[in-house]
Amino acid sequence: MASRRSIWILNGPNLNLLGEREPGIYGGESLADIETRCRETADKAGFELEFRQSNHEGELVAWIQESRSVADGMAINAGAYTHTSVAVHDALRLLDIPIVEVHLSNIFAREEFRHKSYISAAATGVVCGFGPMSYVLAIDALAARMDL
Ligand code: DQA
Repeated sequence: MASRRSIWILNGPNLNLLGEREPGIYGGESLADIETRCRETADKAGFELEFRQSNHEGELVAWIQESRSVADGMAINAGAYTHTSVAVHDALRLLDIPIVEVHLSNIFAREEFRHKSYISAAATGVVCGFGPMSYVLAIDALAARMDL
C-alpha cells in the first residue's frame, strides 16, 4: 500500500500560549486543542500530520529545511515572524510543495504593521481571520491542491 501523504503544520512564537494570550483576538482554544482539530481533519483527508511550535526563528527555518525530503504540503502560522522574517520566507522558497499561510486573526483588519507579510509571497495561498477554523480550512486547501 502506498504510504500516506504527509502534511506539516508549523507554528511560530507565542502560539504556545494560545488560550491565555489575548483571548479577545485569538479565542479561548489552546494550541493543543487546535492540534486535536488538525489531527481529526488530517486523518479524514488521509494525511499523516507533523505539528510543531517554536518561539525561535532559526528552529522554524531548520524545520522548514527538514520538511523538504518528507512533507507533501505545509501550513505555517509564523506568528510575528510573518511580518519580519526574510529567513522564513527564503526557507519556504526552498520547498516545491503547496504552502498555506495561516493566521487565526484577520491580520489586514489589525494594526498596519501586521498588513505586511513575508510569508505570502512564498505561499500558495493565505487563510486568515477564522480563528482555529483557519487551520482546518488550510488542511482542506492543501488536500484540494494536492489532488489537482
Ligand atoms: C497571528 C497574527 C500575527 O500578527 C501575530 O503576531 C501572531 C498570531 C495570527 O494567528 O493571527 O502571533 O499569526
